[in-house]
Amino acid sequence: MAHTLPALPYDIKALEPHISQNTLEFHHGKHHAAYVANLNKLLDGTDLDGKSLEDVITSVAGDASKAGVFNNAAQVWNHSFYWQCMKPGGGGQPSGALADKINADFGSFEAFTEQFKAAGATQFGSGWAWLILDGGTLKITKTANADLPLAHGQKALLTMDVWEHAYYLDYQNKRPDYMTTFLDKLVNWDFVAANLAAA
Ligand SMILES: [Fe+2]
Repeated sequence: MAHTLPALPYDIKALEPHISQNTLEFHHGKHHAAYVANLNKLLDGTDLDGKSLEDVITSVAGDASKAGVFNNAAQVWNHSFYWQCMKPGGGGQPSGALADKINADFGSFEAFTEQFKAAGATQFGSGWAWLILDGGTLKITKTANADLPLAHGQKALLTMDVWEHAYYLDYQNKRPDYMTTFLDKLVNWDFVAANLAAA
C-alpha cells in the first residue's frame, strides 16, 4: 500500500489572508507531495513497504543508514498533522480541559505562547515547534529538519512548521510575524484538545 497525500482539511483559500493560496499550493501541492512520492520510491520492494507511517518512522529512527526514509516519512507525518493544527477562524485561547492543563503546566496561557514562540524563533534553520505530552505533562519542544516527538516517545498535540517554505511567500524573512499570526488567527484548538483527550 503506497502512502498517499491527504487532502487539505479546508479549501486552499480558506486560510487567507494569513496563509495564501499560493503558499498552500507550493507547501501542500509540491513540498508535501514530494515527500510522499520520495517515501514511496524509497520503500518500494523493501521490508518496510506496507507498514503504517508510524511504524516506518519508529523502525528507522536513529538509524543513520535509513536517514532518507526517516526524513521523508517524518515530513509526510509532520505535514499531515500540521494542516490539522490550523483552521479558518482559528487562534485565540483554548477552553475546557485543555485550558486547565495549559494553566496548570505552564502557569498561564501567556506563558505558554511565550515559550511556544521562543521555541519557533530559536530553531536555527528548518524545523518545527511543538506542544507535546511527555509523561503526563505538557511541554514545549523544537525539532530540527524532519525530527518529531514520535521518534522520542512523546505525544504530539500541536505543531508549527518553521521551515521557510511555510511562510516565506507571505511573510518573507519575518518568522515572528508568521508565528504570531499562527497563534492569534489559525490554531485549531479543537484538534489540540482532541489529541489531549486521546492521549
Ligand atoms: Fe513544511
